[in-house]
Amino acid sequence: MRMDGAPLWKGIGRGGGRIPRDTPGAALRGEPGGPGFAFHTPMNAVLRSPWTLRLAALATLALSTLILVNSLPYFTFRNSFSFLAEKGALSRDLLWRACFYGHVAGSLVCLVAGPALLSVGLLRRSRRVHGWLGRAYVGSVLGLAGPTGLVLAAHAKGGAAGRGAFFVLGIGWIATTALGLAALPRRDFPAHVRWMARSWAIALSAVTFRLFYAALYAADVPDATNYPLSLWLSVGAAVASGEWLARHPALDPTLILRKGALS
Ligand code: HEM
Repeated sequence: MRMDGAPLWKGIGRGGGRIPRDTPGAALRGEPGGPGFAFHTPMNAVLRSPWTLRLAALATLALSTLILVNSLPYFTFRNSFSFLAEKGALSRDLLWRACFYGHVAGSLVCLVAGPALLSVGLLRRSRRVHGWLGRAYVGSVLGLAGPTGLVLAAHAKGGAAGRGAFFVLGIGWIATTALGLAALPRRDFPAHVRWMARSWAIALSAVTFRLFYAALYAADVPDATNYPLSLWLSVGAAVASGEWLARHPALDPTLILRKGALS
């Protein structure tokens, strides 16, 4: 309860009312009305464990740092990187090249801002910092990394299957981020959390793609198959991990409220 006696969540649910019954936490706690009711399996216990989340966060941080370190040298603007050399004449096309740098720069901002945005601890300590990081993330996805990713997708490796996967990821990234942003003026925080979790899972397709690609490469899968297959596997991983994250009890808006971050 708040000091004025109103429930903590008053004014933040859809239409300014209660948080709807099917919030992520309700689902995983198996409360009546939640879509995950009666899911009391050992697998569910592992999935909702804070340790699984911490482990996933650590692995993500390590791999994201690797991508960051590997991608920063692109801003020396040399042509000798194998990715650019492979593109041949296209890499000298001004529009493509501008989209390439815009995409890498915007994506790296997202990679840095994303983990901090999902930290309930940071939200509790400083909503202002969360707000600024959120603006940087949303601005980068919608204004830079997403649209330029779609331009790059039209010329990407992997044939029609590869380009199709990039388009699905790009549209999904823009749509989930826009839906997360659109939930804010309505003060629908549960929807904001869910859509942003999905947006972040799509951003992480850059990480999962590289993992699948390395694994299939080690298994001697030819590049022409490996590239599109790894892309579609990372689409699947993005959907699955986005739904897992969106339903994780640690991101349950009612719990976040109880900890005082959104009151
Ligand atoms: C935070 C997430 C992301 C990061 C850090 C990232 C980073 C990069 C980097 C560094 C490259 C250059 C190639 C390389 O060095 O491997 C690249 C290429 C590309 N990215 Fe992303 N990216 C992200 C998300 C996305 C998403 C969601 C899409 C969906 C449209 C996308 C579409 C592309 C495309 C189409 C290319 C060119 C691939 C090709 O020509 O074969 N990226 N990205």
